[in-house]
Amino acid sequence: MAEEDIKKGLDGVVVDYTSVSKVNPDTNSLLYRGYPVQELAARCSFEEVAYLLWNGELAAPDQLAEFTARERAGRALDPVVKQVIDALPDTSHPMDVCRTAASVMGARHPLAEDASREANMAKAIDLFAAMPAVVAYDQRRRHGQGVIEARDDLGYSANFLWMTFGEEQVPEVVEAFNVSMILYAEHSFNASTFTARVITSTLSDLHSAVTGAIGALKGPLHGGANEAVMHTFDEIGIRPQESLEEAAARAKSWMENALAQKKKVMGFGHRVYKHGDSRVPTMKAALDKMVAHYGRPELLGLYNGLEAAMDEAKGIKPNLDYPAGPTYHLMGFDTATFTPLFVASRITGWTAHIMEQLDANSLIRPLSKYVGPEERHVP
Ligand code: CMC
Repeated sequence: MAEEDIKKGLDGVVVDYTSVSKVNPDTNSLLYRGYPVQELAARCSFEEVAYLLWNGELAAPDQLAEFTARERAGRALDPVVKQVIDALPDTSHPMDVCRTAASVMGARHPLAEDASREANMAKAIDLFAAMPAVVAYDQRRRHGQGVIEARDDLGYSANFLWMTFGEEQVPEVVEAFNVSMILYAEHSFNASTFTARVITSTLSDLHSAVTGAIGALKGPLHGGANEAVMHTFDEIGIRPQESLEEAAARAKSWMENALAQKKKVMGFGHRVYKHGDSRVPTMKAALDKMVAHYGRPELLGLYNGLEAAMDEAKGIKPNLDYPAGPTYHLMGFDTATFTPLFVASRITGWTAHIMEQLDANSLIRPLSKYVGPEERHVP
C-alpha cells in the first residue's frame, strides 16, 4: 500500500452517496434536499425543515399540521428520563446528560427492536420532540430550578425557550433561535453524522447511532467548538458597556498572542470550506439582531476583533459555531448548554442519514496500514 493511499482523517475521501444535503465549498453553498439553507432559514420553521430532511419534500399544509401535532404531543419530559438525569451530578457535562438521555429513551422505546423505516421514523420524531425538554431541564436543574411543562400552543423554538427560561420570548429572539436550529440541522458526512452511519452500518439500532453521534459531537474540533468560542470570549473578558472599538482592540491582541503561541482557536477553520462557511452570514445576521436587541455592542467588538486578526494572520474564516456561541449567550443559555442545542437540532440530520444508510447499507469497515513490529514469537 503506497503512502499516498492513506487518507488521514479521510480528508477528501468520498465514501458514499447521499441525497440529504449538498455542501459546495467552491460556491460556499449548502442545500438541504436541494433547497439553499439561507432560504429555508428565512422562510421556514425548524419543524418544516425537519420534515423536509426526513421526507425529501416540504410538507403540504395538512402534512405539516399532522407533523407538528405529533411533535407537540411528544414534548413532555419522560419521568424515567428525569429520574435518570436527577441521578447524575449537576456537575455532569450537559453533553453527557444528553447522551445518557438518548440512550435511556432508546432502551425504553416501545419499538426498540423494530428496525423498519416506519419505526425508525417514529423514533426520530420522538427524539426530536423530546430532546428540548432534556436540554432545558438540565440547564434549569444546574440553577436549582424545576421542570417547566411544555406548551402545545407554541412552535418548537418558542416552546424550547419557554421550557428553558419559563418566560415567553419576543418574536426576534424566537426567530434567531429558529435560524440557529435550521443552520445546525444537517451538514453531509461530518464526524458525528459519519459516526451515526458507521454504527447504523452494523445494523445496530437508531438510538445507539444517535448516542454515538452525540459523543462525536461533544469534541471541540466538532460541535464542542460553540462552547469553546464562549470560553475564548470569557478569557479575553466580556466588559458590558465597553465600546465596540475597545473590545475589538483587546480581542485583536489576544488573537495575535494566541497565534504566536500556535494555539488553535475554536470557531475558526473548516475541513471542507476553505473560503468561509456557507452558514456564517445567516447566523451572523441573527447575532447582529441579538446584539441590537440586548444592547451588547461589546460582544460584537470581540467578535470583529478576533475575526479580523485571524483573517489578517492566517486567512482562516469563522465557522458556524463562531456566531452561534455569542448568540446563545445573549439569549441566556449557559455556555455548557450550547452543544446540547446543536444536538437538539442535528438529531434531524443524523436520523435522516441513518434511514438513508439503511436504504442501501454496506458495512463500513475500512483498512489500515500496519506499522508495528514484524511477526515475532513468545520466547
Ligand atoms: N486556529 C488556528 N489555526 C488553525 C485553525 C484554527 N481554528 N484551523 C486550522 N488552523 C491551521 C492549522 O493549525 C494548520 O496550520 P499548519 O498547516 O500551519 O499546521 C492549518 O490551518 C490546517 O489545519 P488542520 O487542522 O490540519 O485542518 P483540518 O481540515 O483538519 O481542520 C478543523 C479543520 C475544523 C478541525 C480546524 O479548522 C480546527 O481545529 N478548528 C477549530 C475547531 C472548530 O472550530 N471546529 C468546528 C468545525 S465546524 C462546525 C462544527 O462541526 O461544529
